[in-house]
Formats: sequence, structure tokens, C-alpha cells
Amino acid sequence: MTFWKKLRKEPVRERRRSISSDMPGPKSKIRTDFSFTGFDEDLLDLSEVMIEQAVGYVGVPLGLAGPFIIDGREIRIPLATEEPSVVAAASFAGRLLSGHGGISTQSTEPVMAAQVFLEGNLDISSAGKILDSRDDIREHLQKTLKSMENRGGGWRDIDARWIAPSRALAVNIQIDVRDSMGANLLNSVAEKVGPLLEKITGGRVLMAILSNRSWDRIASARLSIPAGELKTMGFDGRETARRIVRAARIAREDFDRAVTHNKGIMNGISALALATGNDTRAIEAAAHAYAARYGPYHGLSQYWIEEGTLHGSLELPLPFAVTGGAVGFHPTSRWCLEQLGSPDGPGLSRIAAALGLAQNLAALRALVCEGIQKGHMNSHARRLAYNAGARGKSVPAFAAVICSENIRGHEAAAKRFARWIEEIDA
Ligand code: MEV
Repeated sequence: MTFWKKLRKEPVRERRRSISSDMPGPKSKIRTDFSFTGFDEDLLDLSEVMIEQAVGYVGVPLGLAGPFIIDGREIRIPLATEEPSVVAAASFAGRLLSGHGGISTQSTEPVMAAQVFLEGNLDISSAGKILDSRDDIREHLQKTLKSMENRGGGWRDIDARWIAPSRALAVNIQIDVRDSMGANLLNSVAEKVGPLLEKITGGRVLMAILSNRSWDRIASARLSIPAGELKTMGFDGRETARRIVRAARIAREDFDRAVTHNKGIMNGISALALATGNDTRAIEAAAHAYAARYGPYHGLSQYWIEEGTLHGSLELPLPFAVTGGAVGFHPTSRWCLEQLGSPDGPGLSRIAAALGLAQNLAALRALVCEGIQKGHMNSHARRLAYNAGARGKSVPAFAAVICSENIRGHEAAAKRFARWIEEIDA
């Protein structure tokens, strides 16, 4: 059997052995030590159930951000991220806002579109034929949508667009997917309805798939805080608030800045998506597409000052699910949903919107005042300490030594760590 065939066929434990024996070159410790790709037996089995050619799993850190007051309820938000400062920044803003009513949110119904593209002997009038057959198409999908209809979701609408340059007909069927992300159902709908659309139009199906655009599944968040509360080391609160408003405005007008601004908003949202087993790529794709909905790509948040109060708002598509796929199936996802107070799908989207806005406020406040590097120093020192050999309680203790002695680089840290251990032992 070739290496790749073996990899496809073998169970995960044998597969792990094969990859180290089949790799050319000397057998380094890192290659043969499978703990680097996870050693929990249940999680290994789970990885194999979830994806193909699994060789292990990644231990991304999971943090609990908070406190947050969202729509009057105290919420703690689990975040899975490799990036330092994300949990700290979100928690800082959450704490700051908690004393001022927290964050209020809203969401639309969770409506997503299944798309079918038809080609062949079609023209602009084909779109009309689809709309005229709306009732038949709905009837045809009744069985596929039955269980979603029973849960309060299901068929919402249909539209059809002639794409002149490609000479193709795009048919969008809008479905309320309730608490799920909807991908499976939407793809089934798109594939099931294809032959009927061919009959109605005389065209041929080219492809059938959901659209990740998700613009009918919007969540928004609002915050208000007296400007005086935003005082920093360098600036009084009013000046900090003014600078935040300016920074957000620049992100709406400067493309390069907008990308980083939105990346910061997604720092928390993506981490929440990963922690809860949601589709991080679908959520990111929808958010960035929304940021370009008027043409130029722009920052997603807005801030303004009224009578000494800073107000902020954020609105974006957030196709978060609480069931289906990895959501609620992976044990960590189940635990995280429980920590969140077991919200429904739209509820989780609203929490995500609040988190995105809090994350953005914290980032802008840091950026326009002390800068963000200062906040990163501590975490950099902790990594240096870990790499030098510190573990457990020694990590923060030796990180403090690194900071106070301004030690730079791995080599210097390792040398100092060896002496530090001797000093402690003495
Ligand atoms: C870093 O991950 C996120 C920030 O760059 C966001 C921003 O610039 O607004 C700090």
C-alpha cells in the first residue's frame, strides 16, 4: 500500500505510527512523540469521526471572557484562540461597560439562501417563469422542509436573477434555519429542487449550494458609556472618546485600516465560533462581504458622541448555530454552550455581536492611547519563560523577572532561567 493509501484506510492510531516510520530523514523526538498531536483517547476517536485522514487534534487555548452584561443578563463568553490579549481585551471592555448598562443587541430571523445556477437555453424571462411557479416549488420542497417547518422555520421566499455576463440564471430560495447553521438543509434543498427548476425553465443545473452571504441573518449591538469613564494614562475621557470616534471613521474611509479594524472585531467572534464548534470560515466570509456591501470595503463599527456619552454600534451577518455539524456534538462545544446559558441560534449571534463591539472598543481605546504593544509585553514574557523551561507557577514568576530585567530573546532568557533556578534552589 502506498503511504497515502495507507493514510486513507488505516485507523488513526496506526496512521500515526505510519507517518513517523514513512518519513525520510532521522527520527527526531518531535516526529515520534505523538503527544504533540494530542494524546486523549476519546478526542483521538472523535477526530477520526469528524474528519478524514485524522492524525490527532490541536490544543487551542480556551479562555472565559467576562463579565459581560448583554441585554440585561450577565454572560461569560468562552473563546478559543491562539492570540494573546484577545480574552483580556474583551474582558476589559465587558467590565468597563457592565457598570453602564452593558451592551444591547438585536437580531433578524435566521434566514439563509440555497442557490441553484442554471444554464442552457435561458434568458432574462426565465426568472419570471420561476416566480410564477413559486407555489409548485414550495410544494415540491414540503417533505425536505417538514422537520424545519415543525421547528418554526422553513420556506420564506424565492427569487431569481438573470446573470447577463455569464448567461446564467441564479435562483435563491430563502429558508429560516432556526438554531442550525443550515448548510446541510440548504444544500439538500438546492439539490432537490434542481430537476424541477430545469423542467420549469428548460435550462440545465450547473451547480447547487447554499450562499454564505447570510445578509438576511443580521445581528447588531449597541453600547453607550459616559466619555469620562474612558480616561487613560495619557488622555482624559473626552479626548479618548474623540480619538475613538476618529479612528472608527478612518476605518470607514481607508481600505487598509478597515481590514485591520474588522480583523480586530472578528478576533473575538471567530474565537467564539471555534469554541462552540461553529463554522469560522462561513462567519468570517459573511462579515467581510457585508463590509463591502456598498462597494468599497469599510470598517463595520460606528461611534459617535452625544452630550458627553460615547455611543458605539456594530451590525453584521452572524450565522451562528447551536445545533448541527460539530456544534453541540464536540464535547467542548457542549460545555461552551452551557457556559453561555444555552442560548438559541439567534441568541448566540447576538452574544457574538456584543462581543465583536466590546473587542473593537477595547482595541480602539488601546490603539489611540497607549498603543497595543505595551499590553502584549506581559504575554511575550510568559512565552519566553515557557520556552526557557518554566512550567506552572514558575511561568508568571520568571516572566516577572524577564520584564523587570528587560531580558530579550530566547537565548538570554534560557541563560537567566538556569541562574534563576539555582538562586531559588540555594
Ligand atoms: C490585533 O489582533 C487586532 C487589532 O489590530 C485590531 C485593530 O487594529 O483595531 C488591535
